[in-house]
Amino acid sequence: MDIDLTYAPALESAAIGAIKPRYQMYLDGEFVDGRGDDIVSINPATLEPLTTISSASVEDVDRAVAAARKAFEGPWSRMGGAERGKYLFRIARAIAERSRELAVAESLDNGKPIRESRDFDVPTAAQHFFHHAGWADKLGHLGYGPAPRPLGVAGQVIPWNFPLLMAAWKIAPALAAGNTVVLKPAETTSVTALVLAEILADAGLPPGVVNILPGAGDIGSALVGHDGVDKVAFTGSTPVGKRIQSELAGTGRKLTLELGGKGANIVFADAAVDQAVEGIVNGVFFNQGQVCCAGSRLIVQESIADEFVERLKKRVETLRVGDPLDKNTDVGAVNSQMQFDKITQLSEVGADEGATAWTSSCPLPEKGWFVAPTIFTDATASMRIAREEIFGPVLTTLTFRTPEEALAKANNTPFGLSAGVWTEKGSRAMGMAAGLRAGVIWDNTFNRFDPTAAFGGYGESGFGREGGPSGLAAYLDTDDEGAR
Ligand code: NAI
Repeated sequence: MDIDLTYAPALESAAIGAIKPRYQMYLDGEFVDGRGDDIVSINPATLEPLTTISSASVEDVDRAVAAARKAFEGPWSRMGGAERGKYLFRIARAIAERSRELAVAESLDNGKPIRESRDFDVPTAAQHFFHHAGWADKLGHLGYGPAPRPLGVAGQVIPWNFPLLMAAWKIAPALAAGNTVVLKPAETTSVTALVLAEILADAGLPPGVVNILPGAGDIGSALVGHDGVDKVAFTGSTPVGKRIQSELAGTGRKLTLELGGKGANIVFADAAVDQAVEGIVNGVFFNQGQVCCAGSRLIVQESIADEFVERLKKRVETLRVGDPLDKNTDVGAVNSQMQFDKITQLSEVGADEGATAWTSSCPLPEKGWFVAPTIFTDATASMRIAREEIFGPVLTTLTFRTPEEALAKANNTPFGLSAGVWTEKGSRAMGMAAGLRAGVIWDNTFNRFDPTAAFGGYGESGFGREGGPSGLAAYLDTDDEGAR
C-alpha cells in the first residue's frame, strides 16, 4: 500500500520566536556590547540573516571571569543551598512559561524541527533546572561527605546542536553545586542562550553568578585557558577537546569533555522489527543526525539484514524534510554551511569507497542547508563512513552473524559514547551491554535522556559525566579528605 505523503503545512508563526534585531552579551548582570566583531546569525532554512550578536573580546573574558569570581566570593557562597535552589526553580518555571517562544527561536536559529525543539529541547532544559534545584540543599547526601564544596568559577563552552539544552545542562548543575559560571555558546547559535540570560536576570540571580559571552573559538580558547577558571566543561569536537586537555594538563583544574561519537545500534534477528526500525530512525535522523550520541551505525544480524533494511527504507521514505517551523517536519535544516559541506563530502567518500548509497526521494526545499536521509549498505568496517563522525542524517549499515562479531564491530571505533541493543532476550541485552565500550547503552530504545541519568563517554568521546549525582560531582571538590 502506498502511503499518501501530501499534507497541508501547519506552520508555527516565526513571530512567536520574538527574535530581536540584535543581542548583547550578558556580563555581571548587565546586557552590554562586547568588544569583539559582531556575528550575523543565519537562519539555516532560508539562508537569510536572522539577527546580529554582539561578540565578546578576550578582555571581556577577563571581565566576565572577574565578575564570576566576585559573585562566587560574595553573595553566592554566602547563600544556603535551599536559597540557591529557589533561583533554580524560578529559572525552570520561567523556561516553561516562555517555552513556545524559546522553541520557535531555537528552530529559527538552529534549523531543527519545531516538534523537536518544542517537545524535547525546551522541556528537557526546564527539567534540568527542576532536577538540580532539588539537589542544591542536599549535596551532603550525594555520598561525598556531609558538606562537599563548590570549585569556584566554571568556564563552559557549548556547541550548536542543542543550544538551549546544552546551556541548561551545564549551568544547572554548576549553580546547584554553588559555583558561578562563564558560558560561551556556539557562534552560529547564541540566541536562546541569550534569552536564557534574560530569564536569569528576571529571576533576580545576583550579578556575575552567570555570564554569557558569545564568540568564536578564540573566545572559547581564552575562557578555558583562563587562570581564574577553576573548572572547565566542554562539549564539541574531539580535536578541540584534545587541545583543551593538553592545555590544562598539570594546572590542577577540573575538566570534563563531551566529544564526538559513532554510536552503534545492534539489531538481533529476534528483535521487535517495527520498534527497532523506529529506534534506528530516531537514533540517526533525530536533530538531522547532529547528535554526539547518534546511532549512526546500524549493525544488523545477517539473517534479517535485507528485510530489515527494506523496512527501514520504507519508513525513512515517509520522513518529511523541510521548513523547521512546520509541525509536520521530521528532518529540518543542518546548522551551517560547514556542517552541510562535511556531510555531503563524507557521503561522497562513502560512495567512492564502494558502499551502496540509498537516499530518500523526499523533495528538498530549494533554499537552505537540507540533506536527504541517506542509508549506506555494503559497507565495511574500514570505510571512513563506518569510522568517522558524519554528524548528519546518514546511516552506515554493517552486518554480523554472532554476538561476538557484533561486539567486535561495535567496539571497532576510537569513540565510546552511545550504543543500542535490540533483542527480545533480556539476558542477551545485558551480556552485550557488559561488552560494549560506550558510556550510554540503550536497551530496545534510543536517544532517551533524563536529568537523573549520567551521560558521558569513553575514549575519544571524552570523560566525566553530566546529569545525575556524578554530573554534580564534576562541580564539587570531592577529593577533599575532610569531606569524606
Ligand atoms: P567545535 O569543537 O569547533 O565547536 C564547539 C564549540 O567549541 C563552539 O562553541 C566553538 O566556538 C568552541 N571552540 C572552537 N575552538 C575552540 C578552542 N580552541 N577552545 C575552546 N573552544 C573552542 O566543533 P564544530 O567545528 O562546530 O563542529 C565540528 C565537528 O565536531 C562536527 O561536525 C561534529 O562532528 C563534532 N561536534 C560534536 C559535538 C558534540 O555534541 N559532541 C557538537 C558539535 C560538533
